[in-house]
Amino acid sequence: MMKSTLPWFSGRFPLYLAPMAGVSDKIFRQLCKEHGADVLTTEFVSAEGIFRRNERTREYLDFDEIERPIGVQLFGADAAHMAEAARQVVEWVQPDFIDLNFGCPVNKVVSRNGGSALLKDCPTLTSVAAAVVRAVAPLPVTAKIRIGWDADSINAVRVANILAEQGIAAITVHGRTRAQGYSGAADWAVIGEVSASVPIPVIGNGDISSPEDVVKRRNETQITGVMIGRAAMSAPWIFQQTKSYLAKNEVPPPPDLAERWSIILRHCRLAVDDWGVEEPAIRSMRARLMAYSKGFPGSKLLREKFQHISTLAELNEIAAANHLADTPPTHVSEVAANV
Ligand SMILES: Cc1cc2nc3c(=O)[nH]c(=O)nc-3n(C[C@H](O)[C@H](O)[C@H](O)COP(=O)(O)O)c2cc1C
Repeated sequence: MMKSTLPWFSGRFPLYLAPMAGVSDKIFRQLCKEHGADVLTTEFVSAEGIFRRNERTREYLDFDEIERPIGVQLFGADAAHMAEAARQVVEWVQPDFIDLNFGCPVNKVVSRNGGSALLKDCPTLTSVAAAVVRAVAPLPVTAKIRIGWDADSINAVRVANILAEQGIAAITVHGRTRAQGYSGAADWAVIGEVSASVPIPVIGNGDISSPEDVVKRRNETQITGVMIGRAAMSAPWIFQQTKSYLAKNEVPPPPDLAERWSIILRHCRLAVDDWGVEEPAIRSMRARLMAYSKGFPGSKLLREKFQHISTLAELNEIAAANHLADTPPTHVSEVAANV
């Protein structure tokens, strides 16, 4: 059995919520935690942002005790800066681990040699990992990688071994190359190769959309945990369903429409509280509402409405109408009462 310095791997198969910039904020992380996510990570922050101590960066670092175990994800390409930034983060917010982003495909990050650019530059990747591990020891440092820069340079096995040698405590592998962005399918064969070749926990990531997917990938590879991103945006209860499937071989039904709407409304109310102003808060929720409404009755019409939504009152109205549409009342008098 694999030994790990990370307690959440002992005797368990942890389910991670993926770090997602603009998505995995405190409200969403806590929602996923309520629905069974075991380990959380902040949205990524740049080492340079930490030095500038700007307000936004402080917000990204903010989490509540209930979110533990939680990691702060950092990106950057300069070993000394990354080490210093990691030290500051540890001093400010005491996360349970630091996660290094070696997977981000976005031009703004890659052009400054951050994120997935380091998959092409193993000497720098090695020095960043080594410097951060040394800077925050004994706090664990983990890393998140893609399988390579492009289809001709898939090097996840090599990169993962380098990271393990530098003292990285666990590695998440997103089964796509940088060149793929989010297109195509995640390559779980490479994730499997990595899981078989390093002496530390490997968390598989990419295209998990059901509890059955988790079990299939767990059976096919030697991964010791999974990370779920986009599927959690539509169905945060996927974590609880997966836990039940792993423990009892049973997948509980998803929440019914009324419960889903209450989750959505609560999420939006919390966003409004957080922003302090209703309209920009609800506008910022439009993409989230689209994700939540996947599979709802009349979802095409719903998506059209969500494109223009900007108040909680509008949302309440849509929720009431959509909920009614799904549960046709049996008595004519009830219809009249509900109109
Ligand atoms: C909107 C969005 C933002 C993301 N931001 C980050 C990020 O800040 N750090 C990171 O390591 N990965 C980020 N990712 C990648 C995810 O963590 C994950 O690797 C990817 O979505 C594949 O997993 P999935 O198929 O379960 O969504 C982001 C993905 C999405 C869709």
